[in-house]
Amino acid sequence: MRDGAKKRISVRSYSDRLLSAEDASFIKERLDALNGTAGLCCKLCEDASSAFDNLKKSYGMFKNVKSVIVMQGKNDDPDLYEKVGFYGEELILDLVERGLGTCWVGGTFDKSEFTADEGCEIACVITVGYPDSLRVKDRVMYSVLHKRKSAEERITSDSALPENVRRGVEAVITAPSAVNSQKPHFSLSDGVLTVSVPDTSGMTLIDLGIAKYHFFDETGLRFEYGNDAKIKI
Ligand SMILES: Cc1cc2nc3c(=O)[nH]c(=O)nc-3n(C[C@H](O)[C@H](O)[C@H](O)COP(=O)(O)O)c2cc1C
Repeated sequence: MRDGAKKRISVRSYSDRLLSAEDASFIKERLDALNGTAGLCCKLCEDASSAFDNLKKSYGMFKNVKSVIVMQGKNDDPDLYEKVGFYGEELILDLVERGLGTCWVGGTFDKSEFTADEGCEIACVITVGYPDSLRVKDRVMYSVLHKRKSAEERITSDSALPENVRRGVEAVITAPSAVNSQKPHFSLSDGVLTVSVPDTSGMTLIDLGIAKYHFFDETGLRFEYGNDAKIKI
């Protein structure tokens, strides 16, 4: 499993330091690359504090947010939300491995502070910065919103799990999900592995993309986009 997957937790309290020029240009280069590969139009916004200052919309859960990555793609792309999850999580793990803190944010920010580019839709944002040393709020949120389902709760199978599938599911257990709902579920039947979510709202599809990235990163097996995607094992 990637070091970033082992270490990552949502960071909601940041120091008041702005991103260094090196970190900002690292993020921009990575965004250029993933936009090219996935047909997304994600961008770094280095002054996004106003979207988190509105207490009514952020519930006071975040501290000192300065920079966010605006995760957006073409508004006619049927796979937009899954792509955002897959490529956003790959980027997040790169950033964690650089020592940066991140948090996926789909709800608790003031969306009206951002305008989508022409022909694009904003799926969510990712906060990015240097973790605050005290991080009192993070510790509270971690205790409330970090409990994980077991491997047995994430996969049903008609036979003993092949080693790579077991490792893949364990990597998925470390993945973040909206409200820690951990919806993506795997099933193995007659040698076919399926990953499904119970609904296809935007945030759930981001979770599905994130889960598929964790599974792919661990096993090299990549699911197509879509709910109920299948791989012959
Ligand atoms: C698609 C998505 C949307 C999320 N939206 C929010 C949000 O609006 N506010 C927030 O504080 N955390 C948000 N989170 C973070 C989750 O609450 C967090 O990933 C989950 O509780 C698991 O904790 P961990 O990330 O520390 O492992 C979101 C996560 C995902 C994947």
